[in-house]
Amino acid sequence: MNVTLRQLRVFEMVARHLSFTRAAEELFLTQPAVSMQIKQFEDAAGLALFERLGRKIYLTEAGEEMYRLSKDIIAKMSEADLILDEIKGSEGGRLLVSVASTVQYFAIRLLAGFCKQYPKVNVNLKVTNHKGLIQLLENNETDIVLMGKPPEGLDLMSEPLLENPLVVIAPPNHHLKDKKGILLAELKNETFLMREQGSGTRTSTERFFAENGMKISANMELNNNGAIKLGVEEGLGLGVVSQHTIDSEVKTGRLVILDVQFFPLVRTWYMVRREGKRLSAVGTAFENFVRREKFRFVRLP
Ligand code: PGA
Repeated sequence: MNVTLRQLRVFEMVARHLSFTRAAEELFLTQPAVSMQIKQFEDAAGLALFERLGRKIYLTEAGEEMYRLSKDIIAKMSEADLILDEIKGSEGGRLLVSVASTVQYFAIRLLAGFCKQYPKVNVNLKVTNHKGLIQLLENNETDIVLMGKPPEGLDLMSEPLLENPLVVIAPPNHHLKDKKGILLAELKNETFLMREQGSGTRTSTERFFAENGMKISANMELNNNGAIKLGVEEGLGLGVVSQHTIDSEVKTGRLVILDVQFFPLVRTWYMVRREGKRLSAVGTAFENFVRREKFRFVRLP
């Protein structure tokens, strides 16, 4: 049935008042314009929707059915308008943010600050490693990503956000804990707990040791940052992690940072999104919030 929304609205108004005159007044139309819309609606339906008995009009059986449906359709259209307005305004709407696992501690504080200003925003946060984030971006499954430097050659827009210093962590009873300027060679017999393949932290750590001619023994692989910290605390080995992730463990004395030559290795976090991706108002508000407020949420030991 080829009925326009305008015809539906005019029909609903005439059916509500059972009067062409009242409907015309409410819709600021002339009476012939209303009659024309109803005639076109009836032609499209192939049935009469009103019948006239004397000076009064009544709904036919088909008219009753259409009146019931038209109220539902008009209510749904208003709901759609409301939802679209919410998405357009930064007051509400949905925000898809994905972050590297090293960024999650900072990102959660950042989101808490953002949600205080925009309490109606519905946030979906994904935490994964560097490789996983590239996939989310490629599949267009996220709006904004906070991560280590993304590879060249993808259609991405990225802006540097904060320095991400990588440090060597050890349990508090480690024999090198008070030594200044530990040489890399002194670590050659240490076991390192390594992140999984696909982690940006792992790639940079491996590259650094290889460039310095050191083969580190990485016979234990743990696929998230929290597990690395716990493993180091329990004395399973040393770890290389972002300094942004160990604030509370260092302050409470559960982990120490070793003073190793060339460390910290300074990487950078970036705010990244797909080139040409149109951000919603809430996405833009979040980007601006991150640029403006990022330093407020940094906690380094
Ligand atoms: P990751 O984080 O080690 O969790 O992958 C850092 C990055 O994105 O490079």
